[in-house]
Amino acid sequence: MPDRRNVVFPRADFPMIRSMNFPRMAALRTPDDLQRRLDACGLRLPMGDPARCPHLAAPVPAGTGVPKPLGNRFAILPMEGWDATGDGRPTDLVRRRWQRFGQSGAKLIWGGEAVAVRRDGRANPRQLILTEENRSEIGGLREILLAEHAQHGSTGDLVIGLQLTHSGRWSRPNDSRRPEPRIAYRHPLLDARVPGTDDRSVFSDDEVAALVADFIRAARRAHEAGFDFVDVKHCHGYLGHEFLSAVNRPGPYGGSLENRTRFLRQIIEGIRTEVPGLAIGVRLSLFDQLPFRKGPDGAGVPEPWTGPYPFAFGGDPLDPARIAWEEPFTLLRWLREWGVRLICLTAASPYYNPHLQRPAAVPPSDGYLPPEDPLTGVVRQIQAVARVKQEFPDLVVVGSAYSYLQEWLAPVGEALVAAGAVDCIGLGRTVLSYPDLPRDVLAGRPIQRKLVCRTFSDCTTGPRNGLVSGCYPLDDFYRQHPDATALKALTTTPRPAS
Ligand SMILES: Cc1cc2nc3c(=O)[nH]c(=O)nc-3n(C[C@H](O)[C@H](O)[C@H](O)COP(=O)(O)O)c2cc1C
Ligand code: SF4
Repeated sequence: MPDRRNVVFPRADFPMIRSMNFPRMAALRTPDDLQRRLDACGLRLPMGDPARCPHLAAPVPAGTGVPKPLGNRFAILPMEGWDATGDGRPTDLVRRRWQRFGQSGAKLIWGGEAVAVRRDGRANPRQLILTEENRSEIGGLREILLAEHAQHGSTGDLVIGLQLTHSGRWSRPNDSRRPEPRIAYRHPLLDARVPGTDDRSVFSDDEVAALVADFIRAARRAHEAGFDFVDVKHCHGYLGHEFLSAVNRPGPYGGSLENRTRFLRQIIEGIRTEVPGLAIGVRLSLFDQLPFRKGPDGAGVPEPWTGPYPFAFGGDPLDPARIAWEEPFTLLRWLREWGVRLICLTAASPYYNPHLQRPAAVPPSDGYLPPEDPLTGVVRQIQAVARVKQEFPDLVVVGSAYSYLQEWLAPVGEALVAAGAVDCIGLGRTVLSYPDLPRDVLAGRPIQRKLVCRTFSDCTTGPRNGLVSGCYPLDDFYRQHPDATALKALTTTPRPAS
């Protein structure tokens, strides 16, 4: 029976407490240090014993929503690298990343990285595309991951998915400097952020139907390539997520929640009919808020807006900083009815409110200073996920945004899993800097502090400026990479010593 004593379930919707003075996580050396900081921020987090993580080592049995039993509670979140070939095939950089995913020891690979279902849906000209021609090479990534994983343990309890996407508003399929947005609806604030957005950018209903077919075709290819499941990506402001807030779009894909989720439902139904052996997951931005921009002091502020704001899925239109649970809960109920019980929860968008999506000490080059202690962003997601687990104990739920916890990631993850507040701890940036973290934790070895991701955001700054992504500060391979010099010139925000 999960021990829920230590977890605060009800309040995931606390507003932002504006503060630009926050200590480095690396300076919080003891549980008491961390507790004092949490108290100062008005936050609560459960904490396990750093030396023992039996719940992180516990399997997730088959038949609970996962297509196969999962050997432990670590998941690798999708992490793209902007490093495929021009025609969307893997390069050695992509292969190296997937190999390290396999090396991690995590038993759930949530999608590997975002793979476009067709060329115009690429977020950058170096994103993978799942065409017929590329299918076996993308399948090869899975094989590399499996082979590496087999060096360290069994593969019968390893589940590997592929994340399918269309980047929508954030598409740059041909030139990293040239946006080619395709959108669900005209947005009063975001249109201005993407040059070239006009009425012709809006997907017509017929075009949406064609895109649904592209997703189903891509799912078939993923199945043929051996993946255990596909993730129908609905997060981070990309097209699927944007449909969820298309309240003003006329026709069958906008307006009511039923219409706004029609795109997702049609894809799921199509996959279930045409690729029956393939499991389906959904990565969902559970809540969103207003877009943020840099304020006068450099820290993020919400865009000025008067009146209700209905364009944040999961946000209260009258106070978008608060979570409105009704629509996310309805969608999760429907997903369960449609046969989807594997859910990865994340939040908001890295493009317009990154402090909510991936809390970081240092912003990327196009970002803003954190407007709140990044711990607040971590706890906001943790508590929102706990609320979902409380409401939907039968879904297998993967959480995100733990990397900022740094040395405290494993003891907090252990306590959350023990309390039934989440099923799997998803690792994003951490896996770039320190792929062995899950194996070290599960073997009871001490954390290698010099490899802990300090959330410097270089892995986001790189691709925002046309460079490949990687952990330039901590991974020797990227320290030596030719793009490292260009990256250094772009990182002007002072960073705390680790
Ligand atoms: C370099 C980079 C690439 C990412 N690529 C993807 C992606 O392909 N698909 C996706 O859903 N999220 C992507 N994300 C978001 C992560 O999966 C994750 O949600 C985020 O980094 C927060 O988790 P963390 O705190 O462990 O880093 C990416 C994040 C970064 C920094
Ligand atoms: S560049 Fe490295 S240290 Fe910085 S956020 Fe990315 S993974 Fe973490």
